[in-house]
Amino acid sequence: EGVFTFDPGFMSTSSCESKITFIDGEKGILLHRGYPIEQLAEKSDFLEVCYLLLKGELPDAQQKEEFTSVITRHTMVNEQMKSFLNGFRRDAHPMAVMCGMVGALSAFYHDSLDINNAKHREISATRLISKMPTIAAMVYKYSMGQPLMYPRNDLSYSENFLHMMFNTPASEKPINPVLARAMDRIFILHADHEQNASTSTVRLAGSSGANPFACIAAGIAALWGPAHGGANEAVLRMLDEIGDVSNIDKFIAKAKDKDDPFKLMGFGHRVYKNFDPRARVMKQTCDEVLGELGINDPQLELAMKLEEIALKDPYFVERNLYPNVDFYSGIILKAIGIPTEMFTVIFAAGRAPGWFAHWNEMISQPYKIGRPRQLYTGYTQRDYPNK
Ligand code: CMC
Repeated sequence: EGVFTFDPGFMSTSSCESKITFIDGEKGILLHRGYPIEQLAEKSDFLEVCYLLLKGELPDAQQKEEFTSVITRHTMVNEQMKSFLNGFRRDAHPMAVMCGMVGALSAFYHDSLDINNAKHREISATRLISKMPTIAAMVYKYSMGQPLMYPRNDLSYSENFLHMMFNTPASEKPINPVLARAMDRIFILHADHEQNASTSTVRLAGSSGANPFACIAAGIAALWGPAHGGANEAVLRMLDEIGDVSNIDKFIAKAKDKDDPFKLMGFGHRVYKNFDPRARVMKQTCDEVLGELGINDPQLELAMKLEEIALKDPYFVERNLYPNVDFYSGIILKAIGIPTEMFTVIFAAGRAPGWFAHWNEMISQPYKIGRPRQLYTGYTQRDYPNK
């Protein structure tokens, strides 16, 4: 047979052509459709970024109003999804429930799953982006044993999410605009990141012609792991474990020890060999949120000290290990009141437009089923023993 390149981990393989997101890992640059992430985080909002990723251009005022209105009017989920939710154990990990609930969208919304029909694809994109925060909040309320909150059409996307998460029928409080803005930024900073493990999973699943909700459920599964989206949860668990500034040196030594599986969570990236540009914006947002809430978080102090020490340590310097997006997001989410187990679910809600845009980009042009080859290292042919 032919000669194949052996590239475990896809260190040097481009799996597709794409016009959506550009990353320069050496310089620490991230552009969506050409626009720098820093400018989008400052001047745009999440729904505008969704539009940009999905359609290729920023919307004009009228397009933005229409898009926002359509998304807002699709935030409710089929009532029967509540019965589906009720089948899960309340103490299940929220990502386990999220995988199931998003996969189930293809069971509840199967009237528009013709992948060759552009209108159907648009309807599915709308459904996905509008319902992700609703599903995420349902997963949380269910885990808490609290009544589910319906979305409200008078609230913005991120206000609505915080309303469904933290309000109760007995007490509906206005949403703090600083926290809503921070939530929106977190969604923007997670919106897309080209061919990462979960997006590549979505594309690979989609290359067989599977429907987008099923493919995105597969992406959510890939995101769950601690080397990918699960890192935001792992960062806070790590900070808990370190406990105090006086223990940092011990944990840095563990991270450098090749016989110890411990890694500095929230540090390092396959593509960035420089500061993750998302981490800079995240840190700034973190300061804003803690300032607004008047929180003096010892974990933030610990995180900052850890960052300072690691950035000076030759081990991290030589390997270009810098803080990534997950390093600060957990501290913001914690300050907002979101429990650690929910962090990766929030990442999934933010990544939804990126996953959909990549699936849609692939499906809208000629594509092949993804089918990697292997280097077989097992037995050569042998005969079944005579017994
Ligand atoms: N702590 C200690 N050492 C590290 C770390 C770390 N966090 N990350 C990489 N290294 C070392 C690694 O041991 C290797 O050392 P050596 O060359 O001596 O064998 C070197 O740095 C290169 O690392 P690698 O594992 O070959 O790099 P990779 O591209 O395969 O892995 C990574 C990238 C993100 C999986 C890894 O850096 C990691 O596990 N980081 C911690 C988890 C994390 O924060 N993940 C979030 C990624 S960003 C957003 C997202 O995707 O969710």
